[in-house]
Amino acid sequence: MIVFVNGKYLNDNEANINVNDRGYLLADGVYEGFRVYNGKIFKFQEHKQRFQRSLNELKIQYTLKDELETIFENLFEKNSYKNSDELFYYIQITRGVALRDHAFPKEKTKVGIYAFVAKKPLNEKAYNEGLKVCTTPDNRWARCDIKCISLTANCLAKQNALDNGFDDALFVHDGVITEATASNVFFVKDNTIYTHGATNRILSGITRNFVIDLCNENGFKLSEFPLTVDKLKTVDEAFLTGTTLEVTPIVKINNISINEQKVGETTKKLQKLFKEYLQNNFYKKS
Ligand code: PDD
Repeated sequence: MIVFVNGKYLNDNEANINVNDRGYLLADGVYEGFRVYNGKIFKFQEHKQRFQRSLNELKIQYTLKDELETIFENLFEKNSYKNSDELFYYIQITRGVALRDHAFPKEKTKVGIYAFVAKKPLNEKAYNEGLKVCTTPDNRWARCDIKCISLTANCLAKQNALDNGFDDALFVHDGVITEATASNVFFVKDNTIYTHGATNRILSGITRNFVIDLCNENGFKLSEFPLTVDKLKTVDEAFLTGTTLEVTPIVKINNISINEQKVGETTKKLQKLFKEYLQNNFYKKS
């Protein structure tokens, strides 16, 4: 696989970074993950805006110009992805190279940029049959709104879930369900759709925001209000949203079956609306 690293396009096994890169030493960097359908990026401007915001929040002095587009086009070309669909475009920017110190380098550093494009098809089984998830304490830092490359708590939660026979974990902060390890979570209860507000406790998912738009445009009742764990038993449906998940149903949470472990009607309607949007915007021949 050809990747991009600090201005060069190289085979991934020949790509190197400096050991003093602050991303490597201190996880001092941010990233973005894009979905590519039929060669085109989904909600590119929204991702770009969030990426710039993440950079600003970490005080990494770097203004994005058109490098996101250029790097993607080159990686797409160099890896001959023309006939591949459902790609994942990853890019991260770190504060750059300096001898290890918590304080930012006094001299302005050149940021470290790494990017790749890989095939990542939708998990059809999960999409059609739903996931089984557990809940776990949300022990992450309080700035989950920043797409920071430091993801240890998310990795631990995901692995613990897998080790215990679940597919993923939902984080719980002060009794409130925030989000999953790499996606946002929605619940349907008494014909209202609930999801946590876009606060510092969650990443404001591009897919989340798109699904909210779909709900509003199609007459679904939606509330950006979080669900508490004690209400889980009363939930009619649940689903995750994320760049590589679209709308993926949840059919079991801990030992609680949701909708008798069948994908619910609201979830199916949203999946259909999502697919229609993709069809019209990415696949339709003009
Ligand atoms: N994850 N919440 C968290 C903690 C995430 O890591 C992600 C995305 C989301 C969903 O955001 P979006 O809809 O913009 O993909 C929510 C990416 C895909 C990842 O880390 O690979």
